[in-house]
Amino acid sequence: MCYHPPFPNSANAYPQNIMGQKIQAVKGMNDLLPVEQKDFKLTAAFWQAFEDKVAAWTRRFGYRQIRTPIVEQTGLFVRSIGEETDVVGKEMYTFADSNDTLSLSLRPEGTASCLRAVVEHNLLYNAPQKLWYIGPMFRRERPQKGRYRQFHQVGIEALGFEGPDIDAEIIAMSADLWRELGIAEHLTLELNSLGNREERAAHREALVGYLKAHEAQLDEDSRRRMHTNPLRVLDSKNPDLQDICNGAPRLADYLGEASQQHYRELKALLDGLGIAYVENPRLVRGLDYYNQTVFEWTTDKLGAQATVCGGGRYDGLIEELGGKPAACVGFAMGIERLLLLVREYGSLPCDEAPDVFVMQQGEGSTLAAMRHAAALRAEGWNVQQYCGGQSLKAQMKKADASGSRFALIVAESELAADSVTLKDMQGGRGQTTVPAGHLLSTLKEWTE
Ligand code: HAM
Repeated sequence: MCYHPPFPNSANAYPQNIMGQKIQAVKGMNDLLPVEQKDFKLTAAFWQAFEDKVAAWTRRFGYRQIRTPIVEQTGLFVRSIGEETDVVGKEMYTFADSNDTLSLSLRPEGTASCLRAVVEHNLLYNAPQKLWYIGPMFRRERPQKGRYRQFHQVGIEALGFEGPDIDAEIIAMSADLWRELGIAEHLTLELNSLGNREERAAHREALVGYLKAHEAQLDEDSRRRMHTNPLRVLDSKNPDLQDICNGAPRLADYLGEASQQHYRELKALLDGLGIAYVENPRLVRGLDYYNQTVFEWTTDKLGAQATVCGGGRYDGLIEELGGKPAACVGFAMGIERLLLLVREYGSLPCDEAPDVFVMQQGEGSTLAAMRHAAALRAEGWNVQQYCGGQSLKAQMKKADASGSRFALIVAESELAADSVTLKDMQGGRGQTTVPAGHLLSTLKEWTE
């Protein structure tokens, strides 16, 4: 049967069908291997150790997992993240479904999908929800260290809580994970309040007026953003614009009493919990759905990709997606960025070494070795069985390289006496030959 891909027509859209020619991974999308790669140091085992940690961490805080599809209707992201944002405007992987009537996108983040599912399944019907998710997200950004086109997030969303106690809880929850991973000292919490919709609108009007008055001095990006997302102009990294940014109307001056109180109470809770923060009045985030509290955890250890985790309140979003109004807050961390930091400066044990490496030599030894391996596994030992028929010396080299604690040698010469040889690869017990029936008890003795 012949496979006819539906599109596109460009001549180099598909790798040429040349026998033996290598096809590479898509730019900005990484393989996770059992070993480190030259330009991508994270291994699958390290990642798995992190996932185990996350599962225990979310459980400790009473958050429950939600899994949503990777593909959603494009409209979900346009409506929630905002049409004018970089993420929706130029970074989404969008395509027509085969019937051409439906536009679909790979999810660029998890909050919109999470809320879509919550509304669709009426999960807020009679109780608030504390949810978490993990998985790949997709943004067509310019790839570099810490910035990828397929990247991964762990996200936390608390739905149906007014705050500010929940704001403090999720921030404390993130701080707890940094502590566990040994990277707390390398992360700074930046905090801001965006106020409510009306307050932001009043500030926006004043800001646009101010920026228009200085339009001639703005760069191209800022001139564009002045109309689409003027708050982000204040976030500009262009040194020539710093004076203009510093003199601009400040959102903080437009916050009403309720917003100020929310922010004050949050800060008091963080102070009481001993969580240090830096107030950053220019922190605005790249997605449109936020109000009141916004925060980011940043580091100076990852070069330009400094933000490891970001989030805030998004109280209006659920209504925009057709649900009943509910206060919501959450955050997401970029797993690649976080693990690059942990690998370099933190601690996350991931032991892949077997407990026992089983070798065999000579006629009839393979089956006997396999039986011993199975018996050990049944007792809960992690056992790696050598396969491939090399000399005992070569097998011993493999056992060494595996990092195993013990080696079991099943040799033809000992089969008749039904004995096996056990070697302590790490400690000082050396090597001993025991009746096969004593294998387990000897191992237990050696590990006591
Ligand atoms: P975000 O700031 O767009 O927020 O992304 C969260 C984190 O994902 C970033 O801080 C960064 O660590 C990581 N990240 C983003 N883009 C990339 C990339 N191209 N490569 C590597 N890592 C990346 C959100 O996505 C919101 N949904 C967070 C949230 C949840 N707000 C409320 N609830």
